[in-house]
Amino acid sequence: MERLKALENIVLEAGKIVQEGYHSNIEVSKKSPTELVTKYDKAVEAYLIEKIAPLYSNYTIVAEESFEGGSIPQNAIFIDPIDGTTNFVHKIPHLAISIGIWSNGKPQEAIVYNPILNELYSAKRGQGAYCNGKKIQVQKDTNLQNAIIATGFPYAKHEMGKAYWWVVKSFESLLPKIRDIRRLGAAALDLCYLSSGKVNGFYEINLKPWDVAAGILILQEAGGEVSDIYGKAYSFEKTIIVASNGSIHSQLLENLAEYHDG
Ligand code: IPD
Ligand code: CA
Ligand code: CA
Repeated sequence: MERLKALENIVLEAGKIVQEGYHSNIEVSKKSPTELVTKYDKAVEAYLIEKIAPLYSNYTIVAEESFEGGSIPQNAIFIDPIDGTTNFVHKIPHLAISIGIWSNGKPQEAIVYNPILNELYSAKRGQGAYCNGKKIQVQKDTNLQNAIIATGFPYAKHEMGKAYWWVVKSFESLLPKIRDIRRLGAAALDLCYLSSGKVNGFYEINLKPWDVAAGILILQEAGGEVSDIYGKAYSFEKTIIVASNGSIHSQLLENLAEYHDG
């Protein structure tokens, strides 16, 4: 069986665990005052690692609930067992399992699956992006004023630190120039919604590799663009990700507040 198909079957099975959790009363723990985790995040991750690892030799698993820190390997399987845990806990049906396979520092295969709405986004390098088997593409409107832009807020917002103020300043400058903002709550799906033309851009600060590893490939295969806040190549070490349909990329960059590292 083709490897992407095998991966898809595993993710569909893992989706049943997410569905079970979504439709039951769940106990919630806190990683921080705003960051939630449930036994389902851990169970889905354990299931995915057990089934996916044997398909890929010489790859390191980088999965949210078990990652112990350190540098990101060039050949890696990025796993976010539930992207959108806050939605999961609040019974908002916008969440996904996200799997991105990278080799030599480049994305090769990707799956983002929302088991509540039964939407499965997938891509293989050079072979296009799909939602439930149908080819998807970004929507090429060039007018920023027509754009819906997705974004997210950093967990550390209660500390009112630098990242928080950058978010607030970016809102202030961007909002009057666009149609509207969406904070949907799952970065992997934000990139898929951009890939399928539902939104026209996406930006966020302080994301982790497992949030975006799959969505980046889906977006690139759907004809979109991704960069850091300066318009340079995005890599996991960058603080901010900016993604778009390509046509509004420079306008989006111009209207985000400047951010200074350090
Ligand atoms: C979160 C979601 C959210 C984003 C957060 C992420 P999680 O992932 O992708 O949209 O704004 O920063 O950490 O914690 O639900 O897997
Ligand atoms: Ca996530
Ligand atoms: Ca997660």
